[in-house]
Formats: sequence, structure tokens, C-alpha cells
Amino acid sequence: MRYLITGATGFIGTHLCRALVARGDEVVALVRTPAKASNLPAAVEHLAGDLGLFADPSTRLPEVDVVVHLAGVVAAPSPEVYDQINYDAVVDLVACLERQSWKPKRLLFTSSLAAAGPSPRDRPHTEQDALAPIDPYGDAKARAERVVATATFPTTSFRPCIVFGPDDPATLTLFKSAQSGVGMRVGREPQRLSVVDVRDVVSAILAMSDDTREGHFTYYVSHPQATDLDAIWGAIGEAVGKRVRVLPVPAAVLRAIVPVATLGSKLLGITNQMDMKQYRQVSAPAFLCSSAALTKDLGWRAQHGLADALRNAVAGYRASGALPR
Ligand SMILES: NC(=O)c1ccc[n+]([C@@H]2O[C@H](COP(=O)([O-])OP(=O)(O)OC[C@H]3O[C@@H](n4cnc5c(N)ncnc54)[C@H](OP(=O)(O)O)[C@@H]3O)[C@@H](O)[C@H]2O)c1
Repeated sequence: MRYLITGATGFIGTHLCRALVARGDEVVALVRTPAKASNLPAAVEHLAGDLGLFADPSTRLPEVDVVVHLAGVVAAPSPEVYDQINYDAVVDLVACLERQSWKPKRLLFTSSLAAAGPSPRDRPHTEQDALAPIDPYGDAKARAERVVATATFPTTSFRPCIVFGPDDPATLTLFKSAQSGVGMRVGREPQRLSVVDVRDVVSAILAMSDDTREGHFTYYVSHPQATDLDAIWGAIGEAVGKRVRVLPVPAAVLRAIVPVATLGSKLLGITNQMDMKQYRQVSAPAFLCSSAALTKDLGWRAQHGLADALRNAVAGYRASGALPR
């Protein structure tokens, strides 16, 4: 099959492109940063441009069977950017595809567990639960899902939980912190979390893109074994070969840091690592989800548990030199 992938040069996108090429599929990647495309297999065709391409009525996209929209912003410089990239660009993409003389057999949209908001500590979210996002990131993803479901062609929105794997700059900080022997959690009880290995996210995308059903579907993508932040620190420690001491930080202290971090990052022109989105996400009691529906409908199930995912991530970070040995 022929695929158009947005966000192909990102963490999940790079792993997806490699898997598709290995499977013998043709891949066209939207590339806005040519230097980052050097990580992609040589067989991947490049479509130069950014998400603004979809807002241009004269854009003619290369004809493909499946579009996988991975492009998105996870840590934005300001709340408005979550809306521009994670909502407006999705509206534009759907409208752009509707304008083409051809239609994809399926559009896959990468939403997030954040679209649903926190779960109870003892019950993972299922697709039947109402969406109640608590931050601008999750809110934009939730609204984008609703737009995707209006398309005249089949679509699947999928909601990964936290993804671990090699070459992800977003989680590298956790591994570096563990390597220095220190971890952090908010509040008295460790946050309960679902996690998933990037190899399993990729196999889920393959399963969803091979789906030939008409209509619109939504799935969570996670490993069935729920965990918590203390266990994650322990497992990262094992993966890097260091015992990690987890320091509890009161939520009120973290909340007080938000305006300082916001101002400081604006002054320094860097991405804020503790904005309201991050604060709300880390101080929620749980983000759990179940992939039982994806298993039931398409036979997909995660193959890699937490320890395996973290070992694989560490091997990748060390191979690239991102994490010292
Ligand atoms: N990683 C996770 O734990 C996780 C969990 C749940 C959901 N998700 C979702 O999964 C998707 C992929 O995540 P990721 O971790 O792979 O993120 P990532 O590594 O930050 O990659 C994001 C990709 O989006 C592209 N992008 C961003 N803004 C763009 C724009 N204006 N025009 C064109 N391309 C743009 C980036 O291009 P450049 O390479 O040029 O920067 C990059 O290729 C996102 O939608 C994210 O919300 C991720």
C-alpha cells in the first residue's frame, strides 16, 4: 500500500516509516525539516512543506491508500500553539483530503489519552467513557477527533498513552534523571499510568491501516498491564543500571513553579517544560486506558511490557550517544 505520513520525522513517525518500508509499503513523508529526514529509510519519498500545505486550496497531494496524521505538538511554547497544530491543522487536513480528486481508503489520526482526561485510579478508560480533557493539548485533540469523524472517507482516531522507545527526546529527560539516581513524583501516591512501547504503537498503526471497514472508529493504544510512576522510575533505574531515589514534590509547590517557568521560558525563548498542561497532567491521580476494543476488533495486542520497552529505549539512546553508558 501507499502511505502519506505527517510527523514522519518525529519519534513515532521515524519508527513507523522504517516498519512500513520493511513491510514493502510505499511511503511519502511530509518533511518540513530536511535535516531530520536523514533518519528515514532512503526509499521514503519526501513531500516538502509543513502543515500549512493543507490550508492551501491549490494543494494537490500525492495519491495514497492511507494517510497517517502523526504531526502534532506535545510541548508547545504557548497554549494557542496546541490549538493551531493539534486542532486547526487537522481541520485543514480533512478539508484538503475532501478537495482531492481521490480519497484515502482510511485516515488515521493520532489523538492521545489526554483527550479523555484523567481516569479513576482503579479503572482504565474505555472508548465508552465521555471525553473530559483537562489541558489545552487534550482539548485540541478531543475536538480534532470530532472533526475527523465527519470525513466522507473511513477514519480511525487512536489514543496512545505514554509511549517509550529509542530516540524520543521527550522522555530522554527521565532516563538522564534516573542515570543521576534521582526521580520525582507529585504528591503522596504515585500517579497510576498506562504505558506502551513504540514498537507496539507501530504494529497498532499497521493493524488499523489494514482495516477495510467503512465508517469511523476510535481506539486506545496501551499495554494491558497498568503501572505507576514509582514502578516506572524503578524500571528505568534497572534499565540504566542505577538505583533511583524518588522524591515526592507537593502539588502546591509544583503549581507555584508554573508562572515562574512560563515567564522564564518566554524570556529565554525556550519551550516551557512546566506549563499548565504539564502541571495538570503530572498532578492528576491516574491516566489509565484499555486497548481491549482494539484487541477485540482487529486482533492487535501489545507485545512489549514496561521493562522490555525501557531496555529497548535505553539501548537506542546509548547507541545514538544521547545517553552516556
Ligand atoms: N510520544 C507520546 O508519548 C505520545 C502519546 C500520545 C500521543 N502522541 C501523539 O503522537 C503524535 C506523534 O508524537 P511524537 O512523540 O512522535 O512527537 P514528536 O517526536 O514531537 O514528532 C512530532 C512530529 O510532528 C511534526 N510537526 C509538528 N509541527 C509541525 C508543523 N507545523 N508542520 C509539519 N510537521 C510538524 C514534527 O516535525 P519536525 O520533525 O520537523 O519537528 C515531527 O515530525 C503527536 O500527534 C502526539 O500528540 C504521542
